[in-house]
Amino acid sequence: MSEISAITVKALVKSVATQEGELTILNGINMDVKQGQSIAILGPSGSGKSTLLGLLAALDSPSSGEIILDGVALHSLNEEKKAALRKQKVSFIFQSFMLVDTLNALENVMLPAELAGINNAKEKAQSMLERVGLSHRLTHFPNQLSGGEQQRVAIARAFICEPKVLFADEPTGNLDAANSQKVADMLFELNRESDTTLVLVTHDLALAKRCERQLLMNSGELSEDSEMETQKRAHKPVSLHSVGVS
Ligand SMILES: Nc1ncnc2c1ncn2[C@@H]1O[C@H](COP(=O)(O)OP(=O)(O)O)[C@@H](O)[C@H]1O
Ligand SMILES: [Mg+2]
Repeated sequence: MSEISAITVKALVKSVATQEGELTILNGINMDVKQGQSIAILGPSGSGKSTLLGLLAALDSPSSGEIILDGVALHSLNEEKKAALRKQKVSFIFQSFMLVDTLNALENVMLPAELAGINNAKEKAQSMLERVGLSHRLTHFPNQLSGGEQQRVAIARAFICEPKVLFADEPTGNLDAANSQKVADMLFELNRESDTTLVLVTHDLALAKRCERQLLMNSGELSEDSEMETQKRAHKPVSLHSVGVS
């Protein structure tokens, strides 16, 4: 891991106007993530994790504060430059895969490479799909693939343009244990090989523990989670109520 910062966040605030008045979703976030580092963001539902990812990926604008992504201050960019920066430096993986239904696996993976004007997009897409173990599924459409396979297509698509930073919002949230493991293995393998910075939001403690750092979001505030805390939660017995037994 290098000492160069991939993401620096200072005093980040996000508020939105609602019918009940102003709602502060993120309340002064500070963080620094080094190039090549993998971090997990844990925290209860509704605490602001997805909002933070959207801001870091330049998909949304903060109310105040600063984000520096790979040396570029996001607030200095207009919408057009932000779009260009996203295309160049950032990829996203979602819980719900977000593949294009009308394109087959190969075409889905090719898409960002074609948009970026890469010449051998098809060959690159083919080799990415091979790396995620799907060379036998190139012409399958998303509805002909299992959840785990769809997420592996999404991973191949996310890495094809060699992003500086990969954001993943609950990437294993819709997968069973075996597929979660496979998807996680691929994320970390590609992260290591390509020196991509990995920022992932997850409720999956096994996945979080494989990251170099764990951060905890609580009511719009982010804190470093020591390994001890993550361990403790991992070993906390599941309450019967939370698994629907009452
Ligand atoms: N555009 C918006 N307008 C109003 N409320 C929002 C908006 N976006 C998010 N929220 C609220 O902000 C809180 C944090 O949302 P989110 O970042 O999606 O949380 P998480 O990903 O941790 O579950 C939630 O209570 C959500 O309802
Ligand atoms: Mg969320």
